[in-house]
Amino acid sequence: MKSITLIRPDDWHLHVRDGDALKDIIPHTAARFGRAIIMPNLKPPITTTEQAQAYQQRIQAAIPNGVNFTPLMTLYLTDNMRANEIITAKESGIIHAVKYYPAGATTNSDAAVTDLKKTWAVLESLQQQGMPLLVHGEVTTPEIDIFDREAVFIDSVLQPLLKDFPELKVVLEHITTAQAVDFIQSTPNNIAATITPQHLLFNRNDIFKGGIRPHYYCLPVLKREQHREALVKAATSGNPKFFLGTDSAPHSQTAKESACGCAGIYSAHAAIELYAGAFEDNNALDKLEGFASLYGPKYYQLPINVDKITLIKEPWQIPQHYPFGSETLTPLKAGEMVQWKLKRV
Ligand code: NCD
Ligand code: ZN
Repeated sequence: MKSITLIRPDDWHLHVRDGDALKDIIPHTAARFGRAIIMPNLKPPITTTEQAQAYQQRIQAAIPNGVNFTPLMTLYLTDNMRANEIITAKESGIIHAVKYYPAGATTNSDAAVTDLKKTWAVLESLQQQGMPLLVHGEVTTPEIDIFDREAVFIDSVLQPLLKDFPELKVVLEHITTAQAVDFIQSTPNNIAATITPQHLLFNRNDIFKGGIRPHYYCLPVLKREQHREALVKAATSGNPKFFLGTDSAPHSQTAKESACGCAGIYSAHAAIELYAGAFEDNNALDKLEGFASLYGPKYYQLPINVDKITLIKEPWQIPQHYPFGSETLTPLKAGEMVQWKLKRV
C-alpha cells in the first residue's frame, strides 16, 4: 500500500459561511488542515475586529471535540474602512489579513471597494503593519470578457497598486491564468498567490461537458487547458510564492442548480486528497508538502504545524451530497472516485 505523510497542511483561502451550516462544514477542513484563512464575505460582511472575534467563536464552537484547528480571521475591505481598524486588527492577534473584493466581482461583494483610491489610508496602514492584502483579482467592467478579467486586473489594477505600495504584502488569490503565473514569478517576495484544486484539475470544458454543470462554476471561472497547465507547473515547481488555498465555497444545491446559479465550488470534503491526485498526475508528489504545509506559514510568518497527516492510496467514492444546515450541498466530484484517502487517527 502506497502512502504519503506530510506536515499538517493549512488552507490559506476558505469560505465556511455561518449559522447552522458551520457544524456541517468545519469538520471537513478541521480533519485535514491545522489552520485556515477564513473569508469575511458574509452577509453583512465582517468589517471590524469585534465582528471577526464573534465570528471566530462561532466557528470554534463547530470544531469537533479533540480536533486541533485554528481559524485565522480576515476583514473585508470597504470604501469606508478606517486606517485605525488595521491597528486594532493587528493588536487583536486573531486577524491575519484584509480581503479586497472589487465591488460586484463575486458572491456577496456588493459592499466591497468601488475605487481603491478610497482605501489609500488603509493600504498604507497594512503596508506599515506587514499585514497581507488578499486580492480577488478580477476587473468587473462589463465590457471585459469574463475569461480576460484576471489578466486585465493584473495590468490595470495590481501593477499600479504595487508601484504605489512597493512593500505591501499582497496575495493574488485563486489564480487561474498563465498571465498570473508569469506575473507572480516576476515580482519580489512580498507578492504571492494561492491555487485551488479545481484550477489544477479542470479546464473550462468541464463546465459544459455533456450539458451545463453548475458544480464546476466558480469565480474566477475555469480557463483554457494551457492555463491549467501553467498553474500545475507553478504549483509543482517548488517556488514558495505559490501555495495552497482551496477557495472551498459552499452553496446549497438549490442555490447552485438554478437559472442564475451561485459561483463557488465545495472542495473541503476531500481538499488535500484532490491536491495529492493533481500532484501525482504530474509526478510531483515530492513537491506537495512545500506547497501545502511550508510556503503558506513562511509567507504569513507563522510557525509550521507540529503534527502530520498521512494519505493512503485507497480509492473511495465521494458522496453525492453532504448536509448543509437545513439543506444539502453537492461536493466537487460528487459520486466519483478519488485515489487518495486521509488516514483517520
Ligand atoms: C466565493 C463564494 O461563494 O463566497 N465564490 C467563488 O466562486 N469562489 C467567492 C469568491 O471567493 O470569489
Ligand atoms: Zn474565495
